[in-house]
Amino acid sequence: MSLLEDNQSTDLEQMVGLSRRGFISAGALCGAALFMGGNLLSRSVLAASVSAGNSKLLGFASIPAATADSISLPPGYKSSVLISWGQPLHKNGPAFDPSGHGSAEQQEVQFGDNNDGMSLFAFPGDDNRALMAINNEYTNYRYLFPHAGMPQSAEEVHKALASEGVSVIEVRRKNGHWQFVQDSRYNRRIHGNSPITLSGPAAGHDLLKTSADPQGTTVLGTFQNCANGQTPWGTYLTCEENFTDCFGSSNTEQKFDAAQKRYGAVATSKEINWHQHDPRFDLAKNPNELNRHGWVVEIDPFDPQSTPVKRTALGRFKHENAALTQTRDGHAVVYMGDDERGEFIYKFVSRDKIDHKNPKANRDLLDHGTLYVAQFDAGDGNADHPKGKGVWVELTHGKNGIDAGSGFADQAEVLINVRLAASVVKATRMDRPEWIVVSPKDGQVYCTLTNNAKRGDDGQPVGGPNPREKNVYGQILRWRTDRDDHGSNTFAWDLFVVAGNPQVHAGTPKGGSSNITPQNMFNSPDGLAFDKAGRLWIQTDGDASNAGDFAGMGNNQMLCADPVTGEIRRFMVGPIGCEVTGISFSPDQKTLFIGIQHPGEFGGSTFPEHLPNGKPRSSVMAITREDGGIVGA
Ligand code: FEO
Ligand code: CA
Ligand code: CA
Repeated sequence: MSLLEDNQSTDLEQMVGLSRRGFISAGALCGAALFMGGNLLSRSVLAASVSAGNSKLLGFASIPAATADSISLPPGYKSSVLISWGQPLHKNGPAFDPSGHGSAEQQEVQFGDNNDGMSLFAFPGDDNRALMAINNEYTNYRYLFPHAGMPQSAEEVHKALASEGVSVIEVRRKNGHWQFVQDSRYNRRIHGNSPITLSGPAAGHDLLKTSADPQGTTVLGTFQNCANGQTPWGTYLTCEENFTDCFGSSNTEQKFDAAQKRYGAVATSKEINWHQHDPRFDLAKNPNELNRHGWVVEIDPFDPQSTPVKRTALGRFKHENAALTQTRDGHAVVYMGDDERGEFIYKFVSRDKIDHKNPKANRDLLDHGTLYVAQFDAGDGNADHPKGKGVWVELTHGKNGIDAGSGFADQAEVLINVRLAASVVKATRMDRPEWIVVSPKDGQVYCTLTNNAKRGDDGQPVGGPNPREKNVYGQILRWRTDRDDHGSNTFAWDLFVVAGNPQVHAGTPKGGSSNITPQNMFNSPDGLAFDKAGRLWIQTDGDASNAGDFAGMGNNQMLCADPVTGEIRRFMVGPIGCEVTGISFSPDQKTLFIGIQHPGEFGGSTFPEHLPNGKPRSSVMAITREDGGIVGA
């Protein structure tokens, strides 16, 4: 979801003309540092992690920024639409209705809106057949309804819920092109009205009971599904993010307790008025419904009849994605970010080991384990490339001051209100953690910190991995666990890149770190993925005004980095008003699937069909090389 307010709320600063890096490339600067010493020494020290622009890993030419209503790619690359919002999942299903008059029932059998995180599940032994599970994060009323405004009835709330959640689709490769298989028995929608089971330590807790579900074990729906995870046992994880925006109160004087406030409860919903038409979202009538969202949900894409499961052991917050890896001795590890200004980064370690021989044996693996939160030190304060140490602090009832005295009756309450528990142990308040990924090459973990215009205010100190006051550009953090074991609770961190605009601001911090140049600059890194070769793909969800602090950056885009040299090249630019989010690869790495979310968020786009007066449609795109080679190589 676009959260432009962070950037928009920042005063545009005066143009200061070309900085040094307006005419000296990062590579040239590293060379210059050899001769100049002094305050450029830090840049020469960083030379090992900043490329001279000749990465062997990156085999494509960096492309310029763009503001067109189309997809820009390097020479030798092409893209096509795999599937778009509203496409019927089954034969004879209702076609996309651009008028907006289509019903909720129609949405429930069409590909959902605003696709976000996604994973590809190959069929064993068949390189040309796969399932894809794709999140549908939210909907844009401008295009969902004929009146282009907020829902005006219970039926319209139902339709909005039907457009969100997850789409599972089958894809097949024919003549070198991956295509959506319209009538596959696996095609399925899981949406905001679908029954979902609650499991793990918080299931059945009083705080999760409602009049519609007195047992506290079955929730209606998953919605605001942002990014994702893929388990080694063949299931999909969909992560509920901006759920708090969906609630409001018919009692405009309603007072909220500390936990409700921390999770964003307000009487007047910011941009969604569901509570006015559906009592489920009315905090005056159903206060516990808020506690039943904000979880990671596990789905078996290969069993269309299966009921998805909300895994409460992973904690409740505004989940971005869920990055799976394992400890040296075989326990599952899930890294997760809470995308809110000043919130935290978490790690879950399963109690039991992954059974790689029998996938079904891992069915409830994510129900038992230990949750931790990250604490980062202040680091060495290096302006260009800060680094330091960190620790994982356990969030278990009865440990580290988390107990009845600090407001938690049991572990279920710790998990339901885990933001409060993490504050008890003084976790580090981050610049909006978005995606987290683990390198297939060296096990280092990378996390986008997208932006935080409030850094420096509101008790959020400037320093450590959050080094920039009123941070409108974002940065990418990485850490290496001690002994290269994700089971270790100590690690070393550094900033892989600090985004910025060297054409508008001279030097760090606002000009960005030395691997940012006028040729590759971007803002608000968000989606992240490693391919098999270890290229790091970076997607943006930022300010696409192309003006002020963001002049010259163009539309939202995707870049690709060499994690060893630090070089970053721009690979793709998306259409007007879009966010680029969601990424997966075909098993042979020759097709790259990416998501174009909310093209024309504020109008001005007809992507991808470009029909006269046509509506823009969020879409999954397949990107390939004209010579059939590996993407990025
Ligand atoms: Fe859905 Fe934090 O992005
Ligand atoms: Ca995101
Ligand atoms: Ca974002």
